[in-house]
Amino acid sequence: MKRPLRVGTDCSGIEAPIVALRQLKIPFIHEFSSEIDKHCIATIRANFQPRIIFGDIMERDIRDVPDIDLYICGFPCQPFSTAGNREGERDPRGTVFYECLRVILHKKPMVFVLENVRGLVSIDGGETFKTILDSLRRLKIYDVQWKILNTADYGIPQSRKRVFIVGIRRDREKRPFQWPEPIPCRPLEEFVILENRKQPLPPHFYSSGMARIINERAIFINLGFTKHRHGNAHKICPCLTADKGKMYCLSQGRYMSVKEFLSLQGFPQSFKPHGSRTHSLRQAGNSMSVNVIFLILKIAMECVQ
Ligand SMILES: C[S@@+](CC[C@H](N)C(=O)[O-])C[C@H]1O[C@@H](n2cnc3c(N)ncnc32)[C@H](O)[C@@H]1O
Repeated sequence: MKRPLRVGTDCSGIEAPIVALRQLKIPFIHEFSSEIDKHCIATIRANFQPRIIFGDIMERDIRDVPDIDLYICGFPCQPFSTAGNREGERDPRGTVFYECLRVILHKKPMVFVLENVRGLVSIDGGETFKTILDSLRRLKIYDVQWKILNTADYGIPQSRKRVFIVGIRRDREKRPFQWPEPIPCRPLEEFVILENRKQPLPPHFYSSGMARIINERAIFINLGFTKHRHGNAHKICPCLTADKGKMYCLSQGRYMSVKEFLSLQGFPQSFKPHGSRTHSLRQAGNSMSVNVIFLILKIAMECVQ
């Protein structure tokens, strides 16, 4: 393509996909982002220059959305209603996914990537996910594929399984999309950032019996998993959660830092978190992993012309 790629993201969080595009060194124009969280918007403004930042996409007029070649959205996981529908079919109208579908239908980007928690595949007995795939495939112009990928299989030692749906426009497809091959992880020790900060473990670590069963070599643990041995926690960090006060660095005797969260999500040191520690941890904990979206976008962009 001769002109820069036009990119739009929805439910943009802290824009892991835009970080990935920068790393890919593909010339692009960041046409739009959208966020309902003012702290995410502040982080977006501190790190990126989208031409438009929309607020709630449920209130957006599709005519205000610019044309794009690449669309990425990590929409919230909501089951679809069957109320008022005589056939009992799941109805995505009124959901954030429906707004994503609208962008895809009206803007027909060459490539789209949708991301969600692994649970989306099974909520509602799998009916919601089936409706999502059917409604994307019914557009008939995309080759649509999905897969659950784990961040820890792609170079960064965090156990984080997320479902990705990739659509490639058939008339632009030079070759079929293939999911990335696993690559070895960097050692987890490299993700510990040394600090002079000590914070005691909370009393429930001892009272729940967690102290007795935990792997002694564990580096990062989730204090919410009280019955869990964290058997491989010296090699892989448990899935980062946005909940405050859960993720603890056992080897350093303190709660995990924002920098550790960001690096275990694949963000570069130059990334500027914005807002309080609580907000920054939530933003990083909700984000896509940059290493995973990097590989998906690399392969997807090689498939199109
Ligand atoms: C799971 S996070 C996605 C994060 C993002 N993909 C990233 O890489 O950082 C979902 C985000 O969607 C935002 N969101 C939820 N509903 C929204 C809506 N109706 N309009 C715009 N943003 C929304 C939330 O505030 C949250 O930051």
